[in-house]
Amino acid sequence: MAELYNDNPTLEGLKKMDEARQGEVFEMPANDTASKLFYIESYGCQMNFNDSEVVASILAEDGFGPTRNMEIADLILINTCSIREKAEDTVRKRLRVFDKLKEERKGLVVGVLGCMAERLKKKFLEEERLVDIVVGPDAYRDLPNLVAGANEGDRGVNVLLSREETYADISPLRLGSNGVSAFISIMRGCDNMCSFCVVPFTRGRERSRNAFSVVAEAQDLVNKGYKEVTLLGQNVDSYKWENPETKEVVSFANLLEMVALVDPDLRVRFSTSHPKDITDEVLYTMKKYENICEYIHLPVQSGNSRILEKMNRTYDREWYKQKVDRIYEIMPDCAISSDIITGFCSETEEEHQETISIIEYSNYSMSYMFFYSERPGTLAARKYEDDIPLEVKKRRLNEVIRVQNAISLKHNQKDIGKVFKVLIEGDSKKSDQDFKGRNSQNKMFVFPKQDGLKAGDYTWVKVESVSSATMKGQIVEQP
Ligand code: SAH
Ligand code: SF4
Ligand code: F3S
Repeated sequence: MAELYNDNPTLEGLKKMDEARQGEVFEMPANDTASKLFYIESYGCQMNFNDSEVVASILAEDGFGPTRNMEIADLILINTCSIREKAEDTVRKRLRVFDKLKEERKGLVVGVLGCMAERLKKKFLEEERLVDIVVGPDAYRDLPNLVAGANEGDRGVNVLLSREETYADISPLRLGSNGVSAFISIMRGCDNMCSFCVVPFTRGRERSRNAFSVVAEAQDLVNKGYKEVTLLGQNVDSYKWENPETKEVVSFANLLEMVALVDPDLRVRFSTSHPKDITDEVLYTMKKYENICEYIHLPVQSGNSRILEKMNRTYDREWYKQKVDRIYEIMPDCAISSDIITGFCSETEEEHQETISIIEYSNYSMSYMFFYSERPGTLAARKYEDDIPLEVKKRRLNEVIRVQNAISLKHNQKDIGKVFKVLIEGDSKKSDQDFKGRNSQNKMFVFPKQDGLKAGDYTWVKVESVSSATMKGQIVEQP
């Protein structure tokens, strides 16, 4: 699967991001034997992509096979994101394309899934004349019913949110997989109420998945030859599952350890960590197991305490800095990345400068950076005026990107001459003479191939040159 945000956070890269990362069509195993075919396009975060794999699995049970060609599909699905206005605009554009197909082909069913379905509910059917079904993130088990209804001419909506649904028993159909890394959703929903964020409204209450089903999924992936799993949740550090029989409570640190123990050759990653919830126990577990990657995505959002309070992030600048200190103290080689929002309601130039200085302080290896986009219904939309002009938001974003790029470059330059264990993911984008892969710190490496090595193998690479996004080097003997 391609990058979910962008691995080259330059301004150009960011502009391209919405086009490239958004709307990925999975590379699907062709299935000409299925009598009915579905086509699915996915937008948004890793969890949404993983949901599409759950959806594919549910549809496969119902006799549907996946296709990459929408022209021959009987069912077209679009799994949507509401996080920023632009994400929703992109989806609406895609729906125009599907509309055309639908006008040409009788019997074609078009469905909207995911966060935008949840946010707009029935309104979708009114606004988008040619959409047949609207299905929220907790209602995917109902898809076969809704599709059957649509075939009979009934346009259907199911956007019920659940307090229990985790799809724990469904084995996701790994659609866009490189056969090396896979995602495992360990929880759903979010109970935080960051004032800018639509996710609690589109994904519902936070719930954690049965720990044993997570371990079983990891084991199954190992059996199939996978070498890396990423445990997913909006806020993984608040994972908490009580064993109904023993009443024993599994924390995120416990779960991390359980997954790390599945196989020492299986790399374990996780995302996202809310700074308020990541514990020393998690940090020490990471340190204890070589196969848990030394990389933490720890979104700061803003470097200014007043803005953080308005954002309802529940930590302030000093508290965040101490968290960063603690991570580097326990794991000096750990890489930290971040999400940043510029131009949140009432942000002053001085406050913006504090975001810049916290990027410098934290020494992020990379960040995903956005300008604030007001989302209807959120706390911020109801309470605060979206008063920073778009040009100012964008100018601040550019400044943040420039600083982050310089810091990423410096971060990478420090690695020149060092040797890293790299998991080969496949051919590099630019040349089939080169491999690409990542080290523990999640940095992307490109290096000439060597006979006998293939995707899914570990190798050692000495860094020779770097850019802000990529490390270039040569395979060397294990040090
Ligand atoms: N659960 C994760 C983030 C999920 S959304 C966390 O708590 O960090 C991914 C990122 O999108 C957020 O971290 C934030 O930086 C950005 N984002 C969310 N809402 C936004 C909005 N209204 N405008 C701009 N960026 C937003
Ligand atoms: Fe949104 Fe905050 Fe929840 Fe992340 S933690 S999904 S930013 S409400
Ligand atoms: Fe978007 Fe929903 Fe994920 S709003 S970022 S797809 S949880």
